Amino acid sequence: MTEITEENKTVQRPSRRTLLGWGGAGLALGAAVAGGTAAALNGGGGKDAEPAASAGDAEQFYGAHQAGIATPVQDRLHFAAFDVTTSDRKQLIALLKEWSAAAAAMTAGHEVGEGAISDNEELPPDDTGEALGLKPSRLTLTFGIGPGLFEKDGKDRFGLKSRRPEALIDLPAFKGDNLDPARSGGDLCVQACADDPQVAVHAIRNLARIGMGRVAIRWSQLGFGKTSSTTPDAMTPRNMLGFKDGTRNIAGTETDRLDKHVWVSKKDGPDWMVGGSYLVARRIRMHIETWDRTSLKEQEDVFGRTKAEGAPQGKRRERDEPNLKAMKDDAHVRLAHPDSNSGATILRRGYSFTDGTDGLGRLDAGLFFIAYQRDVRDGFVPVQTRLSRSDALNEYIQHVGSAVFAVPPGVRDKDDWWGKALFA
Ligand code: HEM
Repeated sequence: MTEITEENKTVQRPSRRTLLGWGGAGLALGAAVAGGTAAALNGGGGKDAEPAASAGDAEQFYGAHQAGIATPVQDRLHFAAFDVTTSDRKQLIALLKEWSAAAAAMTAGHEVGEGAISDNEELPPDDTGEALGLKPSRLTLTFGIGPGLFEKDGKDRFGLKSRRPEALIDLPAFKGDNLDPARSGGDLCVQACADDPQVAVHAIRNLARIGMGRVAIRWSQLGFGKTSSTTPDAMTPRNMLGFKDGTRNIAGTETDRLDKHVWVSKKDGPDWMVGGSYLVARRIRMHIETWDRTSLKEQEDVFGRTKAEGAPQGKRRERDEPNLKAMKDDAHVRLAHPDSNSGATILRRGYSFTDGTDGLGRLDAGLFFIAYQRDVRDGFVPVQTRLSRSDALNEYIQHVGSAVFAVPPGVRDKDDWWGKALFA
């Protein structure tokens, strides 16, 4: 059961499941039967402040770092990039406060604001309602700030230009990039991850709704089948090319490696980013049909790992230390390995996507690649520079979307909000 603190009490509405308990009727019964938790059955009276989660169902929103980075990877993703449409700094600050309160509530499994069923029938409800009856599902909402918030079209819209972190670079063009501006960039982003897709979609939808008139969604991406693991004991998931993905990643429990490669330190600065991280998102289209006509031998050579076990070539077990020299010169793992990139190490947290077909009968499928790092210049950039030039995988993929965001540290308590220190 998630701990209820004084802080999150104030933003908490009755939990989605408890509310259904009061409502009686079919939905409540459905919720109780489906989940069978005490929260749904207890209903009303005195239980309002309790989250609906049974153990492990709700992730903590407040903390030194934002959740959704070192958190064990959830099954589903809804990632949204926003353009800020207001030029009023006060309105932007008000939005970030409202977003943070809503994010704290939804993470705990509660409804936004006055809830989905408001007292005043004449007004649209504060919460859109499609998550009623659903568990918190380990929802995490991770907030980031893109270069456009600091300066756009030569304008310092919010007086923040001088506060842009040096590490928040505009990514260089990489060989082979075929980026669609409509799927790239963004002034702000929210990464919603949850074990239930409807919970993730509900969260983004409600944040977009709150933001109306101040922000507009620029692009968004749904993802499934996590393609990374931040829990070394769990079975490594497979990507759309059928290979285990995330074998050698930073685990959420490896605090030393997180400090070294993921979290921004005091020494790095700026102050408002200490405890935060930098996020690179790339929509990578896969030429699935070509891959499916490629021999198993070629597929294994492309990665430098076996398909069944996921073992490095020349070794037997998945977790065996790779011998890079046993792989082809252009093997993906050989080129991406820290030893080939002066130690550059990133935390990968991507998801597969399949957005129907492309009109030519081909699946519009691929990897929505997400990487976190302490400094993009020592992380994604050197690795992708090498991969873009020589990776055997390039024959089967193309990067079609790209964005970079500064992800501030965690929200400490109810008086804090996403990005507060930036505006101080
Ligand atoms: C569609 C594109 C991609 C696919 C299908 C893919 C797939 C894989 C697979 C199967 C592995 C081996 C298992 C593992 O250790 O996780 C791997 C490793 C890795 N990939 Fe990728 N990857 C892709 C793009 C990228 C990109 C864009 C980067 C970074 C710029 C990257 C960085 C890495 C790194 C750092 C490793 C671990 C290397 C090691 O330490 O052994 N990958 N990838």
